[in-house]
Parts: sequence; C-alpha cells; structure tokens
Amino acid sequence: MAIEVHVELRTRDTTNAVERGDIVFIIDVLRYSSTIITALANGALEIIPTPTIKKAKQMKQRNPNYILAGERKGRKPKGFDLGNSPSEFTRTNIHGRGIILTTTDGTKAFELAKESARPVLVGGFLNAEAVGKKLYELADENNCGVSLIACGKKGKLSIEDFVCTGRILEMMPVEELAPSDSALAALVASKGAREKVAELVRLSEHGKYLERIGLAKDVEFCTRINRYSHVPIFDGDRIRL
Ligand code: MLT
Repeated sequence: MAIEVHVELRTRDTTNAVERGDIVFIIDVLRYSSTIITALANGALEIIPTPTIKKAKQMKQRNPNYILAGERKGRKPKGFDLGNSPSEFTRTNIHGRGIILTTTDGTKAFELAKESARPVLVGGFLNAEAVGKKLYELADENNCGVSLIACGKKGKLSIEDFVCTGRILEMMPVEELAPSDSALAALVASKGAREKVAELVRLSEHGKYLERIGLAKDVEFCTRINRYSHVPIFDGDRIRL
C-alpha cells in the first residue's frame, strides 16, 4: 500500500501530523536540527528541548552538569554555556554530557510533537539519506503515513527547510509514496535546486540574517549533504540516537 506523505510548512502545523497518527519528521536546517545531529554525532548523551529561557535555566538547576545552550535572534543568551552554532558542539565541549537546548522556532515543534503516538525523527541536509531510509522503514513497519515538518521561521515558510524536505523525499522509493501537493511541490523544489543547495540557502532570509551577524560558517556547514548517517529520535521528552 502506498505511503501517504504530507509536508507541513510551519512549526505550529506539527499538530496536524500528530492528529493523523503519522511518523513525524522535524526539519530546521538553520540551525536547530543541524545542531542536534552534530551534537549527538560528537558524543552528547541526550538533548532536552526546552521552550523558554526560563524553563531552560530551571532545567539546568536540576541538571547542573548539563550544558545550557540555545539562541534568541540567532545569538547565545546571557548566562548560557553555548549558542546554537553546530561548530560549538565539538567532542571536547560536549562528549558524554547532556544538553538543554532552547531556540526560537525549532524547539516549539518538539513541544507539539510530545503527544505523538508514533516515532518523531530529527534531521536535515546533514543526514538526509539516512532519514529517508528510516522514514520509509518506520512507515512500512507501522503501516502509517509520514509527515515532514518544515519548521520555517516565525510562522513563515523557510526555503531551506522546504527544499530539504524535498531532498529527503528523493531519498525514499518515490514510486511507493502517495505525496500530498505540498510534498510534490517540495520534490519539485529539490530537483530544481539540484547542486545549488548551498547557494540557495545562503540567499534564504535566515541564511542572510545569520551571515549579517557573523555566522556565515554555520550556513555553509548546515548544507553539507549526508555528512552524517545517524537519525536522532525524540521520545516525547529527550532526543537521543
Ligand atoms: C530556530 O530554532 O529558530 C533556529 O534554530 C534559529 C537559529 O538557530 O538561528
């Protein structure tokens, strides 16, 4: 039976995916998903998504050995150990440590996905192929659909998340999928971007903003396709491999 595929274009539409009973996949290329993938690749114990700075600091008080990380307006908040640049999450900085992570948009998707009865995966360009294979495997096992959440920024579509969704769908057996129109559009966008993903993401609204605040290296890193082959999974509370 064909696997139904939906693409949601805003963080708040994660609830649609949960209500459908789909496998949920959360994408926030710049930079939440990319940071999570990199931190776990470099040996982080787990990541706790926390919706507000206040709750993140309360979580830190309860877990003093955990690293407090995140961003507001792309920058590290006062009193935090790390920001949200994947390059900060080196093996030296985070190996064997838990991470409390709060960001502007990406974190909200996890708050909404907490109630999902199905697995919730995390990814981006950095692990696109591994995610495509895992999504297909889980949808087949669970005999259900998949929903890819292109988080966007502040309720608006982000081209980098949308194109990344299409690239991941290209990694699935397309002939066995029953894509929605938004999924078909993402596939077309990904085929159109082809080898120009890095250039396109540099031109995105958030890519240009990060460059303006001196974080151009993050934008380049987050577009390295298939740099990692692991798929982080959110259990409703923490994100682990
Ligand atoms: C977000 O969650 O909104 C992003 O990760 C923001 C960022 O890291 O610049």
